[in-house]
Amino acid sequence: MQPGQPSRTALRAAAHRAAHQVYDGGRIFADPLATQVLGETPAAVFGEALGSRANVSMRGFIAARSRFAEESLAAAVGRGVRQYVVLGAGLDTFAHRNPFADAGLRVFEVDHPATQDWKRRQLADAGLASPASLTFAPVDFETQTLADGLAGAGFDATAPAFFSWLGVIVYLTRAAALETLGYIARLSGGAEVVFDYGEPVSAYPPAQRPAQARRGARMAAMGEPWLTRFAPDELAGLLRGLGFGEIEDLGPAAISARFYGVERPDGPGGHLVRARR
Ligand SMILES: C[S@@+](CC[C@H](N)C(=O)[O-])C[C@H]1O[C@@H](n2cnc3c(N)ncnc32)[C@H](O)[C@@H]1O
Repeated sequence: MQPGQPSRTALRAAAHRAAHQVYDGGRIFADPLATQVLGETPAAVFGEALGSRANVSMRGFIAARSRFAEESLAAAVGRGVRQYVVLGAGLDTFAHRNPFADAGLRVFEVDHPATQDWKRRQLADAGLASPASLTFAPVDFETQTLADGLAGAGFDATAPAFFSWLGVIVYLTRAAALETLGYIARLSGGAEVVFDYGEPVSAYPPAQRPAQARRGARMAAMGEPWLTRFAPDELAGLLRGLGFGEIEDLGPAAISARFYGVERPDGPGGHLVRARR
């Protein structure tokens, strides 16, 4: 991230969710606040690239990862979980739509301080008051621990919790990513986490690598370079080593079949993971 500046990729992810409502009718993930919190149109964010193949494909993935997280959260709430931590929340709107607030689900939004300040201004500009069930916890994963940030926000580390971590790991160092996953795995109340990750560029067929490299270069130019990617087998081993016993890893073919309603051959790409201890 650029020093002192909010995440620009958070703006783009939010614009993809808004575009999904406007152009796809929220078919995969309905978010009635996505456009309101963005405060501008997706076209204003993406310009002529709005309808490009890469952008349409990315907005499907971003819709799918939010749906996967919120479906997994709903199942966790059904089992009695009453704490939801949104890591690297960006302009995520769950806390302002929380269907489990009356059931006592508390939401903790953790994000880089500069992004969180910007989000709070976006919410105020959109006229979205923050509910009593929401607590903001500013944390820079590279320089502060999640344990300290959450303790200061009133999170109960001895009670069960559900975490989502969408679109963040790729921008962190491997050490920071594993440190946070380790913290989640060690929570004495028991925890579950949903996150996404990308496979190394070297896993792609040679013909697809230049496009991947160009995307990576665009993110780096925004000050948010890709730092951490995993091979699926490697990640499964790391998660098991941290103590996660139940691991679900959906690759591109499984995501397409489950969320897009189309079959596609398996290959490298974005993955969605749910891991529970
Ligand atoms: C691509 S955005 C995803 C935002 C949101 N999860 C979504 O899906 O819309 C990446 C997020 O990671 C956060 N992030 C990046 N580096 C961070 C760090 N070192 N500490 C805390 N958050 C960080 C950014 O502030 C931003 O909110």
